[in-house]
Amino acid sequence: MSMSREQLEQAAKAWWYYTVELAPGLIAPGSYPTDFPYMPRMLMRNAHLHGQDCLDLGTMEGVIPVLMHRKGAKRIVAADAVPHCADKMALLQNVYGASWDFREIGLMYELSQKLAADGMFDYVNLSGVLYHVFSPMHTLASARPLVKKNGLFMLSTNVVNEQSDLMHFNTAGKLQTEPNTFWYPSIPLLEYMLRYFNFAPIDCLYSRHPSNSPLHVAGKECGFISIVCRAVDPGTALPPGDSWGRHSMLGSWEYVGLSKQNHDPALPPSTIGYDLPESLQAMVAQKGAIDLHLAVNELGRRVERAKRVEDTYLLRLMDES
Ligand SMILES: C[S@@+](CC[C@H](N)C(=O)[O-])C[C@H]1O[C@@H](n2cnc3c(N)ncnc32)[C@H](O)[C@@H]1O
Repeated sequence: MSMSREQLEQAAKAWWYYTVELAPGLIAPGSYPTDFPYMPRMLMRNAHLHGQDCLDLGTMEGVIPVLMHRKGAKRIVAADAVPHCADKMALLQNVYGASWDFREIGLMYELSQKLAADGMFDYVNLSGVLYHVFSPMHTLASARPLVKKNGLFMLSTNVVNEQSDLMHFNTAGKLQTEPNTFWYPSIPLLEYMLRYFNFAPIDCLYSRHPSNSPLHVAGKECGFISIVCRAVDPGTALPPGDSWGRHSMLGSWEYVGLSKQNHDPALPPSTIGYDLPESLQAMVAQKGAIDLHLAVNELGRRVERAKRVEDTYLLRLMDES
């Protein structure tokens, strides 16, 4: 059902997370500055979503599902803890002629059980959620079974850019005053967690938080990272000498109980493609994965301000990804 200009003007006055064009020239302003880069969008552009099964976890108003639709996804499921953006999501589906199924999934744990009826996906996005959960490992553990073998997983979260295997806690709001924010892992620790859950990182983008922000870990650089991973066979993403990791994957009660991955060789692998940036191609060809700290700090996978509108949080009616 098409809406009148008056109805759309009214809708544009609501609070929006994303900035969205609701009719030619009618923009509902969102929560981010106009040149703020939306890195999950920038990376998803490299994924060949045409004909693929796609899932967006923590979808808000559904801008990622609109972009998945534009890229020709075959099936789109969008999930969120609660349907707090249901009306705006319905509006975007209407205005953008896109459709997807919404699932209310509560807290971001036991995801594969909660979404069991939806099967597995070629592309799963988990962006802007991991710093909101008490247990990032539990969330990753439960998301992993949703991704088909050789499928892609995109993770975006806040990190500390340091060579360590530490995770920093938002004690007394020192990282963010937002009350729903808990952990910033170091980049290498986040990479280890991904590899432990059989995700091989193949691309990333990083944007540092302003150094004059009062909210940071003293003396350390914090930022936001988006990472694209391939879902690989058990243990193959871990460093060759890491026997602890392999034993833990096979025998720890937490791994076995919280990450019920199906590695049945009879399951058809995903055929989803991804266009790697030139700077990472050699590393991925040689090692099957990238070193995230190296990619961020030495191989130029950094973004400051967005140079193009289509790299921001603004969704326009013109058909751009
Ligand atoms: C910052 S928004 C990110 C939106 C979107 N994924 C993106 O990257 O643009 C956080 C999302 O996570 C959900 N969320 C926040 N805290 C949560 C929690 N503790 N458990 C489950 N979901 C949560 C919100 O409903 C929202 O969809």
